[in-house]
Amino acid sequence: MAQKPIIEAKQLTKVYNGRPAVDRLDLAVYEGEIFGFLGPNGAGKTTTLLMMLGLTEPTGGSVRVMGLDPARHPLEVKARIGYLQENMGFYRDLTGRQSLAYIAELNGLDRQTAEERIREALEAVAMTAAADRKIVTYSRGMRQRLGIAEVLIKKPKIAFLDEPTLGLDPEATNRMMELIRDLCRRHNMTVVLSSHFLHQIQKICRRVGIMIDGRLVAQGPIEQLARERLGVGDRTYSLEEIYMHYFQEH
Ligand SMILES: Nc1ncnc2c1ncn2[C@@H]1O[C@H](COP(=O)(O)OP(=O)(O)O)[C@@H](O)[C@H]1O
Ligand SMILES: [Mg+2]
Repeated sequence: MAQKPIIEAKQLTKVYNGRPAVDRLDLAVYEGEIFGFLGPNGAGKTTTLLMMLGLTEPTGGSVRVMGLDPARHPLEVKARIGYLQENMGFYRDLTGRQSLAYIAELNGLDRQTAEERIREALEAVAMTAAADRKIVTYSRGMRQRLGIAEVLIKKPKIAFLDEPTLGLDPEATNRMMELIRDLCRRHNMTVVLSSHFLHQIQKICRRVGIMIDGRLVAQGPIEQLARERLGVGDRTYSLEEIYMHYFQEH
């Protein structure tokens, strides 16, 4: 991919209480890709996403999202990025459709556009039949799918999906990953996807970044990382093996 990155971080740093949560991160995400953002809990993934969204200011370094500095143009950046939060809260007393209508309103959509997009988004995540049930009755997988529908309402150029498979069983995880891949293709969306399900990440991501303790220890196409670090073998290495390799080194 010899194109310009749609997101580019240079030496991006965030210090909390004297300790770097994100430490001089150089990262590039390209248009149209699903970038796998990996690392153990506490590695600094969410903090990185928050800086890219303009929701927290970097201590050092820089980041550009479609050429914009999120710290200086937070509204413009937020309009372009859909964000599925790690632990999203819903107003559980609302129905799925009501919740989407609320998001549409927050995004300033007029009634007709809102209705259209809600219909499309529900359809896209296979939640049409459950749309008028209260969220409190939804399974974990249904709530995650509603979360994806909330992202789609904005028709964002970029989606940050922070652990969308957390708490899902393997079957629901598989379906969520396939959904993400389909949506990315259909809407030509760029996705930054954080998940611990390395097997599924390997199926839908070509490039990944591995973050450990605030540092990005690896970045690139999965096969390239395997070649560089594990040598050319007579078989294909799994992302798990590559991940564990970096993990043991740090
Ligand atoms: N608002 C905050 N104040 C202080 N420390 C924080 C804050 N947010 C995150 N941290 C710390 O920064 C580090 C990275 O956290 P986080 O970005 O949430 O990691 P990840 O998303 O990879 O699990 C952790 O040590 C965490 O405790
Ligand atoms: Mg996190």
